[in-house]
Amino acid sequence: MTKPVLLLLSGSLRKESFNRKLIHHAAKTFGPAEVVEGDLDLPLFNEDVEAIGNPDKVETLFEQVKRADALIIGAPEYNKGVSGPLKNGIDWLSRPQPSILKDKIAVVMSAAGGRTGGETAHFMTVSILTQLQVNVVHGPLILVAQAKNEFDESGALTNDFLAKQVAARMERLRGMLS
Ligand SMILES: Cc1cc2nc3c(=O)[nH]c(=O)nc-3n(C[C@H](O)[C@H](O)[C@H](O)COP(=O)(O)O)c2cc1C
Repeated sequence: MTKPVLLLLSGSLRKESFNRKLIHHAAKTFGPAEVVEGDLDLPLFNEDVEAIGNPDKVETLFEQVKRADALIIGAPEYNKGVSGPLKNGIDWLSRPQPSILKDKIAVVMSAAGGRTGGETAHFMTVSILTQLQVNVVHGPLILVAQAKNEFDESGALTNDFLAKQVAARMERLRGMLS
């Protein structure tokens, strides 16, 4: 059987992003898969640019999404909302017709500095994806609060409760993809 293709999307662009660590941890937990990381460092969505032709990086992301069996999205919380890069990426992805997001399977998880683990941004992200008819894999919210305390140097989640939550969600995802 061919390995499922997992596309990782981090809503934070920084290299040491906890959201990036979280989605990579999730992909490792998933087991055998082709793991691709998408780049959300895209130009700001602009209909005038779109009218001339999509930037290459946007086209690359479109192809990655089309090929992916599932998206694993790390949704940081900026000022109690969705991060700019993630919202901008979703705005670009919402444009192709027919939709490349409709019925796409996605898992959303958040890591944040605050005590709520990015809950507000998480809810917003799920709401936006639902509107776009993405099939969000349900389950208890995966929210890594005070994220700087929850990862080791290799990027693995050290919190047993959270690691089990991620493992359970990946197991559910595996079931949906098999
Ligand atoms: C512009 C900005 C706004 C932020 N707002 C929030 C917030 O509303 N809630 C929160 O828990 N953390 C907030 N933080 C802290 C982030 O959660 C923290 O920097 C986190 O590590 C960002 O995710 P990353 O590690 O994936 O880059 C904010 C950080 C930045 C840069």
